[in-house]
Amino acid sequence: AQIDKGGHRHFMVKEIFEQPTVLADCLTHYAPGDAVVIPEGSVDFSRTDRLILVACGTAHYACLVAKYWFEQLAGLPCDVDIASEFRYREPPVSEQAAALFVSQSGETADTLAALRYATGKAAHILSVVNVAESSIARESDLALPILAGVEVGVASTKAFLCQLGVLANLAILAARQKGRIDARREAELLHTLRSLPALINQSLALEDEIRRGTRALARAQTILFLGRGPMFPMALEGALKLKEISYIHAEGYASGELKHGPIALVDKTVPVVVLAPRDALFDKTISNMQEVMAREGRVWLVTDKPGAAAASDGVWKTLTMPQVDPIFAPLLYAVPAQLIAYHTALHKGTDVDQPRNLAKSVTVE
Ligand code: G6P
Repeated sequence: AQIDKGGHRHFMVKEIFEQPTVLADCLTHYAPGDAVVIPEGSVDFSRTDRLILVACGTAHYACLVAKYWFEQLAGLPCDVDIASEFRYREPPVSEQAAALFVSQSGETADTLAALRYATGKAAHILSVVNVAESSIARESDLALPILAGVEVGVASTKAFLCQLGVLANLAILAARQKGRIDARREAELLHTLRSLPALINQSLALEDEIRRGTRALARAQTILFLGRGPMFPMALEGALKLKEISYIHAEGYASGELKHGPIALVDKTVPVVVLAPRDALFDKTISNMQEVMAREGRVWLVTDKPGAAAASDGVWKTLTMPQVDPIFAPLLYAVPAQLIAYHTALHKGTDVDQPRNLAKSVTVE
């Protein structure tokens, strides 16, 4: 494939805008019709009693999102680990466990070493990779490609989204194999997933609004990101993207954990980005935002129409996203998280595609 910026200013933004296309391709690959199929081979979760997900960086956050899916949809308990911690902690891995390694490059040293640690212990060694001929893919029982195409930007965007696409399909498959969903529910979940590329396209159209909002973010010293449920890992990912490319200190927190520490940071200089579609716990998120606003913190709420209607009082900015079933909202809310980081970095004038001190793939410990 030819690699150029395709008229975009940076690879990162080009890759952000490719997301509707690559995600649609990825979803069609794993679910061409009303059921999940794994073209690469087979996997059987029916007797798996634990799923261990291991990765680094952004791929680790994809695993944290997937934990909500595997547990909620398939009732499959998950342990999510950072590869460098997993391998040296030497955790017990039972024969009933499956181990899943997520890596864009398939060459991250810590993730590969973690895979080797689990090999011979876990029943299945699975991987979710972008580079199909990578070491991690080769050493897995089953390697699932994310089909994102070459990713050049050091800060991962489209690979993250396609990792989520594959993991969502796997969680649906596990739910079916464990007898937790019927064919109708499977088709429904896949229908929701398939609606995402068009919704992502709509959210890309919010770029200008996002760009205007980031002018204030670029002046901040610290930015907090909050989310609940599967949006909690998205808060972590939003903060990671921002610090990677804008060099502004950012932290992601579970909204409910705010009161246990990070609220001490909040004053009028600290913007707080809240990623929160209107879900069952939205009212609790509203009270978390009120705690921020009571301390003069500026809340930038990224939500949907019902969320915007419920929460408008005192909020600094509201970005109104298309509506989607909250379970798969992380795929959609990845876009504003990425664009917030990108445009904040542009205001700061940093090197977006080659941020200082970072490498695309870390093959040393
Ligand atoms: C590096 C990159 C990150 C990436 C991480 C894991 O730190 O800068 O963007 O998330 O490695 O890489 P992998 O190739 O294993 O997904």
